[in-house]
Amino acid sequence: MESFDVVIIGAGASGLFCAAQAGYRGRKVLVIDHANKAGKKILMSGGGRCNFTNLDAAPKHYLSNNPYFCISALKRYTSFDFVDLVERHALNYVEKAPGQFFCEHSAKDLLQILLTECEWSGSEIRLNTSVQQITKNEESFTLVTNVGDIECNALVVATGGLSIPTLGATGFGYQVAEQFGLNVLPRRASLVPITIQPAMKEKLSTLSGVSVDIEATANGVSFKEPMLFTHRGISGPAILQISNFWQPGDDLQLNLLPEIDSEQHFKQVRQDKPKRALETELTSLLPKRLVELMKQDFSWLSKPMAELSNDQLAEVTQYLTHFDVQPNGTEGYRTAEVTLGGIDTDQVSSKTFECNTVKGLYFIGEVLDVTGWLGGYNFQWAWSSGYAAGQYV
Ligand code: FDA
Repeated sequence: MESFDVVIIGAGASGLFCAAQAGYRGRKVLVIDHANKAGKKILMSGGGRCNFTNLDAAPKHYLSNNPYFCISALKRYTSFDFVDLVERHALNYVEKAPGQFFCEHSAKDLLQILLTECEWSGSEIRLNTSVQQITKNEESFTLVTNVGDIECNALVVATGGLSIPTLGATGFGYQVAEQFGLNVLPRRASLVPITIQPAMKEKLSTLSGVSVDIEATANGVSFKEPMLFTHRGISGPAILQISNFWQPGDDLQLNLLPEIDSEQHFKQVRQDKPKRALETELTSLLPKRLVELMKQDFSWLSKPMAELSNDQLAEVTQYLTHFDVQPNGTEGYRTAEVTLGGIDTDQVSSKTFECNTVKGLYFIGEVLDVTGWLGGYNFQWAWSSGYAAGQYV
């Protein structure tokens, strides 16, 4: 039987990064993955350019049942540390939005850095390898795989979440956790587009492809970012962000004019430019197709502002600031960027990522109940947790 100091299940972001750290410490490391390629999600991420970190990767940008769990790892391996690493590999990168770093050319460049780090550290990667059984021995683990049995002293589960099964996502990590008696918290697809009721979807169908800067609010949390109407519902950064906080049944408030006090603004325009049609004013603030759609509900939009009453201006304001899309769910794991929830961190050391009750068993990355906002936070969690575990396995 082959024997390793460390076996890492999952050749994704956290697994590859952890492997390199452990390899540099002189550990004999094997990374296994059932997929035919390492880092498939990295390649797909950030529209193919991988938003690999966020300079503001503070604990407040992560959701977890235990909000304190992520603090230590994020502090010990920061986004600046990761930027240092990619600079040493001469990666060309761009800051697309404040603090959000993307590869300038392709996510392939970022994946290549991880593979190079694994190679330099002497860590081995084996693809097309599935684990069929895990047995805990006194001081080691035995893994039965489709290509033979493997023994290791430390076993790291880095199998990620459930999002995008076609990229190799499975619930394997949760099964391992349950096998060893760990609690797995409820999970749901997140950073995900929101779907809308069929009748409303039909009504909004002319808006498919239209983007508008909005403020989305759910459960007391708000995001001011662009929203995109799609043929299934609503998407874009504002919606993906709010999906971390919204669930079917909750209120979702969309303000399509978040930057102005709309009612006050319309009254001012009525005073300054009384002959101007409200439609013309709205077209200067919102996409034309949206204003066209509004005409179905407000037949008087093309009238001069001087002819409109305060009540009419208030009605339009209410429509735009509480835009009613009637959400009914999300697109689910098929398109979600992450899984919210996962392995309860209460049973995992925030210092070493070793399970408190099973010596030698480690969990890192998205499989844990730690979920970042949109914007490079989830990869930073993969690097920080992978780094931390890599120091102890
Ligand atoms: P990850 O999913 O990276 O790796 C898990 C690995 O385990 C995979 O290689 C998988 O094949 C393997 N595996 C699963 N089950 C197995 C089994 N049974 N046996 C063996 N191997 C198994 N984040 C961000 O910060 N910036 C971004 O730009 C994006 N963009 C983005 C786009 C899209 C389309 C998605 C789906 C996700 C993102 N994300 C993101 C999220 C980010 O990709 C994610 O949080 C990290 O990849 C999580 O890293 P992990 O190592 O935990 O899992």
